Amino acid sequence: MKLWGGRFTKETNQLVHNFNASISFDQKFYKQDIDGSIAHVAMLAKQGIISIAEKDLIMKGLSSIMEDISNGNLEIDAEHEDIHSFVEAHLIERIGDTGKKLHTGRSRNDQVALDMKLYTRDEIGEIDDLVKNLLLSIDKIMRANTETFMPGFTHLQKAQPVTIAHHFGAYFEMFKRDRSRLFDIAKRLNLSPLGSGALAGTTYPLDREYTAQLLGFDGPTLNSMDSVSDRDYLIELLSALSTIMMHLSRFSEEIIIWNSNEYRFIEIDDAFSTGSSIMPQKKNPDIAELVRGKTGRVYGSLISLLTTMKGLPLAYNKDMQEDKEFTFDAIDTVKGCLALFTGMISTIKFNKEIMASSAKNGFTNATDAADYLVNRGVPFRDAHGIVGQLVLYCIEKDIALEEMSLAEFQLISPVFDPDIYEAISLTTCVNKRNTIGAPGTEAMAQVLQLNEEYLKA
Ligand code: ARG
Repeated sequence: MKLWGGRFTKETNQLVHNFNASISFDQKFYKQDIDGSIAHVAMLAKQGIISIAEKDLIMKGLSSIMEDISNGNLEIDAEHEDIHSFVEAHLIERIGDTGKKLHTGRSRNDQVALDMKLYTRDEIGEIDDLVKNLLLSIDKIMRANTETFMPGFTHLQKAQPVTIAHHFGAYFEMFKRDRSRLFDIAKRLNLSPLGSGALAGTTYPLDREYTAQLLGFDGPTLNSMDSVSDRDYLIELLSALSTIMMHLSRFSEEIIIWNSNEYRFIEIDDAFSTGSSIMPQKKNPDIAELVRGKTGRVYGSLISLLTTMKGLPLAYNKDMQEDKEFTFDAIDTVKGCLALFTGMISTIKFNKEIMASSAKNGFTNATDAADYLVNRGVPFRDAHGIVGQLVLYCIEKDIALEEMSLAEFQLISPVFDPDIYEAISLTTCVNKRNTIGAPGTEAMAQVLQLNEEYLKA
């Protein structure tokens, strides 16, 4: 059944019906669609546009449809154009002519705008829970590893030693920002488009404040043309989701590198690895690779929707129907990735000795040797040069800085004393770095305290 058959004299071409239909994907928000209709009907009765008896009958019909879809007794078929037509047709079938009053003062344009916002709002809540779970896992790993040394890198070259707690703490900050982005989007989108009609409102005395309140919005939107054609919140969401994926992808890349035979910093649990059909020895980090790979897919959704929206005149255009599949796919992808990634990192085994010995070699303590000289009055630029000579000397002899004898140190600079060994030990290099945000014991303790408060809030 078509909602708009009256003006037409011919049947729709079957290919046109298929091309135009959105029911295969917009059925995803049947619940939000019915919730919106229930609020709309409550308002129509309150305003005297329909009677109380009619409202009661329609609500009963809508609730029974919701229940039957949920428990699998009512199958959503492709015969209808979209979920809105499907629900209305079944309502009329169940309660008769009164059902025909449901769409009074409403258009599918404000209806779909509402449904998509309600759906997005619910999903943002679920994504936020998943990011929070990931933060809890990261926090746990941080707490257990404030003294687990590893090299910190720049240019993927060993730079200065840090700890696992510090390295994971960087991701903690990233995912914390992701949550605050989601929060901002949920706040900004929370205005109800319902009652905007096709584009220019309606002559019925609708109470838009009332439906907004019933549906948990902060209020109604203020321009009916914008209300039916605004998809900014989806673009913002896809952007925030892309950023989450970018963070997961960077993290995945590190997991893959650390898990490689060359690094062996970590071992991914068997439950989160896969094998090769030909090479019996293989244990591959497929989950991390897939998360990294799916990042492109989520970016694609963002670019697709931006492109779809570009150049659309006001107000509603059918192009906008394209917002759904991109968004649904991106949301489902991100949720899947977050859940799997959290499972993977919470079961990772750290090869702490390998990490610590890697942190030790590669002259990661060179800066500290220079700082030692600075503390004894040598200007930093000169100290940098002196330690450069030490490093060169060590490379030639194939030894580490701390393996030089005091005589060798003093040959290059007389400022060195026996306490140089203590000053460039791995423990000193890490634990003495206590500026805010640094890996030192005190600085980390402060951050862990703040993280605890953040996770409790
Ligand atoms: N399926 C449509 C969409 O997703 C619903 C709105 C249809 N409105 C219209 N004027 N054809 O955008």
